[in-house]
Amino acid sequence: MHTKVIGAQFIELASVDSTNNYAAEHLSLSELQHGAVILAHDQTAGRGQRRRTWTSSNGLDLTYSIVLRPQGLKAADHFRLGKVAALAVHQTVEEALKVTQGVGGGQVRIKWPNDILVDRQKIAGILIQNDVVGGQVQSAIVGIGLNVNSSELNHEHHATSLRLEVGQPQDRMALLERLCQVFEHWWDLLASDPAQVDASYVERLWARGRYADFELDGQPFTGRPVDVDADGRLLVEGEAGGVLAYGLDRLRFAPR
Ligand code: BTN
Repeated sequence: MHTKVIGAQFIELASVDSTNNYAAEHLSLSELQHGAVILAHDQTAGRGQRRRTWTSSNGLDLTYSIVLRPQGLKAADHFRLGKVAALAVHQTVEEALKVTQGVGGGQVRIKWPNDILVDRQKIAGILIQNDVVGGQVQSAIVGIGLNVNSSELNHEHHATSLRLEVGQPQDRMALLERLCQVFEHWWDLLASDPAQVDASYVERLWARGRYADFELDGQPFTGRPVDVDADGRLLVEGEAGGVLAYGLDRLRFAPR
């Protein structure tokens, strides 16, 4: 890896239940350093958000976890890790599409909180587990699933892959290396200019500034996402004008 920190320790597994589980089981400092990357060519019980499963094709997609040991990241600012991860995956996907499709390639957006979409179809998901001690994030496991070469995806889930978008197979390991490089860039930026990370995240937010359909406490709700707060709650302007913050426990985008 041509990186200083992210991926300097690299663990490659043929098969595991979940790279996030593997990281959690080996989280001691002596086993996993800051920036360690655990890649599995196959995940037998991949985990998604909201206790869903994450499916990927053996040897075709990217499923990996990055272990972070932030210095002085307050628990209240934990969502900035999610922003860094989303920005890194967003950039990697956008670059991969541009290389083959020119500037007119599909539109890549971050769907709150940290799904990556290409033209409204999900191409990547992120699952973060934080370990908080004394109000500080002691360690974090950032699990990333990127659909790379799968071509049989569940269309009901509106999923896509780089191969489907680009029309030709992609080099998974080159993509992983690029992901680590750009992750390192956004991670470094978080230390030097966190406001820039915040601004970059909100700029790329799907449906920002336009009315979208949600479910709020299980009921249909229409609102306009404007930003996220430090806790990662989505700030949504309702049709009557007021802006309120909602967490994932109450709000989700309405299924299409
Ligand atoms: C989502 O639901 O969108 C989040 C999906 C996260 C999947 C990745 S794949 C690597 C890591 N290991 C897991 O079990 N999950 C994450």
